[in-house]
Amino acid sequence: MTSPEIRPAHPAECANPAALTVLYDGACPLCRREVGVYQGLTPRQPLAWCDVSDPATALPAGATRDAYLARFHVLRGGTEVLSGARAFVALWSALPGWRWLARAAALPGATSGLELAYRGFLRLRPALQRLAHAFEPSAAVPADLIAEMRSDHAGETGAVWIYHGVLAFSRDAGVREFALRHRDTERRHLERIAEVLPWPRRSRLLVPWRAAGFLTGALPALCGPRAVYATIASVETFVNHHYQQQIDRLAGRPEHAALRDMLIECQADECEHRDESLARRATPPGRLLALWCNLVGSGSAAAVHVARRL
Ligand SMILES: [Fe+2]
Ligand SMILES: [Fe+2]
Repeated sequence: MTSPEIRPAHPAECANPAALTVLYDGACPLCRREVGVYQGLTPRQPLAWCDVSDPATALPAGATRDAYLARFHVLRGGTEVLSGARAFVALWSALPGWRWLARAAALPGATSGLELAYRGFLRLRPALQRLAHAFEPSAAVPADLIAEMRSDHAGETGAVWIYHGVLAFSRDAGVREFALRHRDTERRHLERIAEVLPWPRRSRLLVPWRAAGFLTGALPALCGPRAVYATIASVETFVNHHYQQQIDRLAGRPEHAALRDMLIECQADECEHRDESLARRATPPGRLLALWCNLVGSGSAAAVHVARRL
């Protein structure tokens, strides 16, 4: 979903007596969409557009910026400020194809009814704004990396739950200390990715990812510390490669340097987890454990494949 491109008015236009000036809240995704629709109707309009959320914008006298942000206004003839339903009617009467709506609003009681409906909308507006913000593309994540970030979010969710699984069944003091420490790190990773990936972009399969993570931690925990460390080493080896692919894709894109830095920091933690697991594993896995580790590696790859899409 992309936001419509808004043609902002020069602040001086807010007092242009030759035009009907629309005073809109450019920080509100709902207002931006509506204004985008009006602006797209015809290239030549007797209208000026004034973003009242911009602190540099000089506003018509008589009301505060907060008051202009709280309701829809137009400025007619450079001096007369209309608000709410009356402002919409003035705007529609200036727009080709919308004048019938202005004529309908001129019927007895129609403007009052419209004003009541507008006040009802204003009560819902904060909740609708939050919803619209959540669906807007994130400036932090480029469109071509949304699917990868969705898989990162799903992966970090699974990682947290791997340690829930380990802690549910392991009574080994060393394993428990290791799992508690690593779980904290994975929670931080999850929070950082959640900050840049709005919830509508996240995987719809978070419950299955939690269950898969829990089992991936619980099963080796039942078998002993060596199985836990071997499992974590396998998972982290895969995660390291997964993060590296994204870091490579963001190379040479300075506008996304912050995202790349975040991924590099997460990757460094994963490599530490891998190396610590390998050091604690002491001896290479036997055939059965090696088979399990291969299964964990290919399961992680399959999960990423699914999480990119769902
Ligand atoms: Fe992580
Ligand atoms: Fe990790």
